[in-house]
Amino acid sequence: MLHTEEKLLNLEGRLHISIVMALFSSLTPVFIAIICVLIGAILKKTNGEKEKHETKSKPLSHPWVDEDLKDGTDHHSEEEVVDEEWQGLEENVAHVPFFAERYSEAEMIKRSQMFYELLNKRRSVRFLSDEPVPREVIDNVIRTAGTSPSGAHTEPWTFVVVQEPYLKHKIREIVEEEEEINYKKRMGDRWVNDLKRLRTNWIKEYLDTAPYLILIFKQVYGQLPNGKKKTHYYNEISVSIACGILLAALQNAGLYTVTSTPLNCGPQLRVLLQRPANEKLLLLLPVGYPKKDATVPALTRKPLEDIMVVM
Ligand SMILES: Cc1cc2nc3c(=O)[nH]c(=O)nc-3n(C[C@H](O)[C@H](O)[C@H](O)COP(=O)(O)O)c2cc1C
Repeated sequence: MLHTEEKLLNLEGRLHISIVMALFSSLTPVFIAIICVLIGAILKKTNGEKEKHETKSKPLSHPWVDEDLKDGTDHHSEEEVVDEEWQGLEENVAHVPFFAERYSEAEMIKRSQMFYELLNKRRSVRFLSDEPVPREVIDNVIRTAGTSPSGAHTEPWTFVVVQEPYLKHKIREIVEEEEEINYKKRMGDRWVNDLKRLRTNWIKEYLDTAPYLILIFKQVYGQLPNGKKKTHYYNEISVSIACGILLAALQNAGLYTVTSTPLNCGPQLRVLLQRPANEKLLLLLPVGYPKKDATVPALTRKPLEDIMVVM
């Protein structure tokens, strides 16, 4: 009797094992598939992180865009930006009749042609003499730049005019130190190569010799009398337009400059010139007369048909 029971138990045990084995073998492809998917997901994540890390540690590919982000002198962290700190603009402004100048068609053609010819003579001049320039002219060209349109009429610009020789020299020291690193490390081979034909390098004698340096700051936000922050819509575009007008005004006055964007110098120059943290350096324009032996690269400009599309 006991013997028969044992046999039955043995039979039951074997049956269980074979059911489990059958179940396991039928599920094996499913397990393999699940494991493959898991491995795939882990590998993808690891690669993604590696890629992210590589992009971060790569030399900056667009350093001219990211300069603001690297302003370590700006203590305004993101968490500080609370909405109540910001205020909109005054709603009421009187609207007045507008009287426009009107020229005959012949006069318009003549004026536009003459203005083109004047601006077509503008060149970036990197050899400027120390011959003095009347301050009144500088005042007028900056007044002219201040006529620029701006997003919601926020006028988000500050033009810092430097005439003191010791300050100009300090600026030169900062710019040359950073520009040497820019040329040797930050800019990369292609950029340095593209500049070869212009024969530019990190030596900027004009920062000492030019009678004036105009440093143009964009105000990334404004400050109202009650201490609240004011949004400066499209501040970079607005200030860039003002700079274009300034360049035209300088040309009109018979003064020369080189549009310069000293990479990585913004924060140091801002601190040197005691500008607040909401101001970021956009351009540095040395202003003066060309040296007698000044040279410029023989560049040509695109003809009208290459830059204009009429539909
Ligand atoms: C946004 C911008 C940045 C520039 N940055 C520099 C610069 O850092 N150093 C420089 O020597 N020239 C600089 N230039 C001047 C250009 O090299 C110059 O405008 C170009 O070669 C055309 O020559 P032109 O101005 O004589 O027509 C810059 C021009 C622009 C518009």
